[in-house]
Amino acid sequence: MCGIVGYVGFQDAAEFLIEGLTKLEYRGYDSAGVACYTDDRIEIRKKVGGIANLTAYLQERPVHGHIGIGHTRWATHGRPSDVNAHPHGDEHNHYVVVHNGIIENFMELKRDLQAKGHVFVSETDTEVIAHLCEELDTGDFLETVRKVLATVEGSYALAFMNRDFPDTLICTKKDNPLIIGLGEGENFIASDIPAIIARTRDTYILNDGEIAVVTAAAVRVIDREGRPVDKKVHHVDWSAAAAEKGGYEHFMLKEIYEQPKAIRDTMAMHIRRDTQEVYFDELGWRPEDLQGIRKILITACGTAYHAGLVAKYYIEQIARIPVEVDIASEYRYREPLTDAATFCIVISQSGETSDTLAALKEAKRLGARSLAITNTVGSSIAREADAVVYTMAGPEISVASTKAYTTQVIALLLLAVYMGRINGKLSHAEEEAIVRDLLAVPEKCHQILEDVDDLKTFAKNYGFAEDVFFIGRSIDYAVAMEGSLKLKEISYIHAEAYAGGELKHGTLALVVSGTPIIALVTQDAVKEKMYSNIQEVSAREAIVIGIGFEDDPELDHFVRHAIRIPRTHRFVAPILAVLPLQLLAYYAAITRGTDVDKPRNLAKSVTVE
Ligand code: M6R
Repeated sequence: MCGIVGYVGFQDAAEFLIEGLTKLEYRGYDSAGVACYTDDRIEIRKKVGGIANLTAYLQERPVHGHIGIGHTRWATHGRPSDVNAHPHGDEHNHYVVVHNGIIENFMELKRDLQAKGHVFVSETDTEVIAHLCEELDTGDFLETVRKVLATVEGSYALAFMNRDFPDTLICTKKDNPLIIGLGEGENFIASDIPAIIARTRDTYILNDGEIAVVTAAAVRVIDREGRPVDKKVHHVDWSAAAAEKGGYEHFMLKEIYEQPKAIRDTMAMHIRRDTQEVYFDELGWRPEDLQGIRKILITACGTAYHAGLVAKYYIEQIARIPVEVDIASEYRYREPLTDAATFCIVISQSGETSDTLAALKEAKRLGARSLAITNTVGSSIAREADAVVYTMAGPEISVASTKAYTTQVIALLLLAVYMGRINGKLSHAEEEAIVRDLLAVPEKCHQILEDVDDLKTFAKNYGFAEDVFFIGRSIDYAVAMEGSLKLKEISYIHAEAYAGGELKHGTLALVVSGTPIIALVTQDAVKEKMYSNIQEVSAREAIVIGIGFEDDPELDHFVRHAIRIPRTHRFVAPILAVLPLQLLAYYAAITRGTDVDKPRNLAKSVTVE
């Protein structure tokens, strides 16, 4: 995710801004920039690439002053480039802003502003904020910002500068973190604690809707209605390393807990706020675009491949188009039957996985049209594919993929709904039912993430097992595969996933007294069958941990331990059911003392074949 810093005081602003941005580098970014008030104007310097590029540029074209804002950008709207980097200003740099998050109604706002004569230079959603400030300027900085906030929709942390108020920064937030660092004769703004802890440990943590007016001498906070807020000083006693992980012990845990937001952000790109209709502006498909497709080929690696397996159920059952899912490293070498009637979907968090890229190139060579689902704007896979849908997970640092997976599944479900509506295979009522339950996912994720004591206990009790099996039927089988991968890659426990009905064809021979079996039971159509499979393993004295809906009365009857998730649509269940599996893997790794974020022999981005 992007990073924000701000400074007002008696020292050189640019110096702190670079220092603060450097502390946020671990979060991943593709460009960086600063703006400082100097010689009666606001000067912006920004560069694509690392902070070293920006620092070199600042040596050529320095900016000095005692007030400024800075940003590291992780591209969401528009590729990584100098011009898309933040800060952004209006034509005269009257207002200059940095922004984390997504302005959902930026297209409408941009059109209106363009009609009024505003000239935009970047592809970003953020630039509309600066122009909007200029357009709505009342001469009162705070009042203008409040007017702008009443107009924009979406999620944001924002810091503003105004040329007419050279000693004041204003900042605010909604669904994105922002803190104020309190100094002596100077104050700081940051999206994350690591940016400021070398300077101060006393902070105000802003709540959604609060606006802070920050000068060197004071910080005044008001709420949404404009009433003064009496903020309590929060003293940060985290070490620098703990601060990077937001107080979580590992990036993996932090990223697991970031899922409600990542999911909400991904949905916000594809569900219309007013009509709740699913849309993909980047695709703009018409019925004839789907007519020529005889087969969809999904190819990916690892966790992304598992998201593809889930998508097979979605696309086949919702849009009634046949889907083949292939491991990318296998696809190229099997003389695949791909042609112009094949539509190829590749899935990749990093957008740089060499096998996935090669599979994409091969599918294109054979005549397929292609679409990439990726988390990384401007990545090789994004550039190679004919079309791209971006997930909004933000940078994922832990090797074990968590929020990238759930956002991929969300994007794929929405894509299946979009296809089903276009080709007339999905009823309006079914679309409504899916979207309704999707919109409730972030809240239901919170419920699951708040109640982890049982998972910790299971991980302690079974964390030293030699083998663990995951079983499920239908979509639950695909989720079982992801749960198994998560457990083996970070805890090093041997784990396998099987379709419930497949056990008796061989694997049952491995099930003995005490073997832990994780059984997923979220698909009502095969629930009774699944309970029969659970009985097969229970009869061999396996210890079954069942994952099912909170309102399934039978679950307790069949399993030794039950983990309950909130009731939801059968297509939405994979998104909720994977959370306990991620946590189970995480706590098993803790029990065994492994290197959670950097498991042995593995790399985050696999750019070799
Ligand atoms: O960046 P990608 O999504 O293309 O990466 C594919 C796999 O290497 C990746 O999903 C891997 O399996 C995960 N680290 C597993 O948690």
